[in-house]
Amino acid sequence: MNVLLLGSGGREHALAVKIAQSSCLGKLFTAPGNPGTAECGQNIPLNISDFEAIGNFIEENSIEMLVVGPEDPLVNGIADYFADRPVSVIGPSKDGAMLEGSKDFAKDFMTRHGIPTALYKSFDKSQLQQGYDFLEKLAPPFVLKADGLAAGKGVIIVDSLSEAKASLKEMLDGKFGAASSRVVIEEFLRGIEVSVFVLTDGKSYKILPEAKDYKRIGENDRGLNTGGMGAVSPVCFADRAFIDRFEKKIVEPTIRGLQKDGIYYKGFIFFGLMNCGGEPYLIEYNVRMGDPETEAVMPRLNGDILDLFDGVAKGTLDTKQCSICPETAVTVVLVSGGYPEEYRKGIEIEGISSIKGNKVYHAGTSENGGKLLTSGGRVLTVTALSGNLQSALDSVYDSVRKISFDGCYYRRDIGKDLLNY
Ligand code: AMP
Ligand code: GLY
Repeated sequence: MNVLLLGSGGREHALAVKIAQSSCLGKLFTAPGNPGTAECGQNIPLNISDFEAIGNFIEENSIEMLVVGPEDPLVNGIADYFADRPVSVIGPSKDGAMLEGSKDFAKDFMTRHGIPTALYKSFDKSQLQQGYDFLEKLAPPFVLKADGLAAGKGVIIVDSLSEAKASLKEMLDGKFGAASSRVVIEEFLRGIEVSVFVLTDGKSYKILPEAKDYKRIGENDRGLNTGGMGAVSPVCFADRAFIDRFEKKIVEPTIRGLQKDGIYYKGFIFFGLMNCGGEPYLIEYNVRMGDPETEAVMPRLNGDILDLFDGVAKGTLDTKQCSICPETAVTVVLVSGGYPEEYRKGIEIEGISSIKGNKVYHAGTSENGGKLLTSGGRVLTVTALSGNLQSALDSVYDSVRKISFDGCYYRRDIGKDLLNY
């Protein structure tokens, strides 16, 4: 089977490695890819928003499966665009992608289908006063969310009511452009977060390994939010009882809800959960895998991912085997100094070839004249898989220390909070 994978981050490199191991694979193409995906197949300079060009490539290269890494093409309807063509798309329809594309849609879906989530209301510009009134009824901290996609920056959490009111007005006045023309205000959930991933063919599903993401730039979860600075899988507090409750109270109603609402969904669902005293609450859906969580989850997935994808495409996922490696994966993200604000690009990276055993995934890198250079904020992710959390931590940081580029920064506390949990 020939496969086209869309995207260019660490997530896509991790997916490409897994796809390249499949016995069902003919040729793997990644568009646009990065120097890491180039080691797993061939990179193709296609724009992932240009569905027509992607369609031509698919036809010319007999692509049978299109795997969509990031959310943007899904929210823009790539699965619908290819619905009548002889290619299977791993990723939901535009309607399904609304679960990530609109927080208001997602919250309405959760509420209608009885899925535990924070109490909420949503407001547009004409409802500013109602928004203020709702804020006055809530206890701090206040959670305000831009309805639409805002590159992971659309959530504001503030302690004072006056700040919350000012933020609401700013958002409705266009702080995040059209994405915040509607704002969801919700109750603050106290607990500890975990991400759980599910692969579904729309009827049945497989629960993939969970992961904990470290979102803040600074150690001890301080400083600005980032795309993610590290991940650990498995997560000790997401024990069997918690995952069972998650399956019953969140996964099953989600799959049933999609069916009831007539939403075509074949692909990954990323459940952003809050563990509130052992009870799972759904904070958000994403309609794709997480980054850097994928780099911790994929190494724990035993078996052939294209066989699972084939089950997704054909609606036979229930007949497929999905076994999970019990070892612990720790992923550390190396970023360019200044990220998530301004940072330099084009800095030479050294030391990767000296790493043995652990996996180095490329995120924001490029190649020029045989040199590997930085080309983004999140530059590389390194994953170690080992018998326990401590040995995985020792191993991953041993590898991370071998990599160098001017301004390289990484958090040294990934997973430390879970050591004595
Ligand atoms: P989201 O984009 O919805 O995942 O929100 C970004 C982050 O804000 C989440 O990962 C949480 O850390 C935090 N957050 C969002 N909603 C809530 C909530 N209702 N209570 C507490 N924290 C929240
Ligand atoms: N690491 C969080 C995300 O991929 O959305």
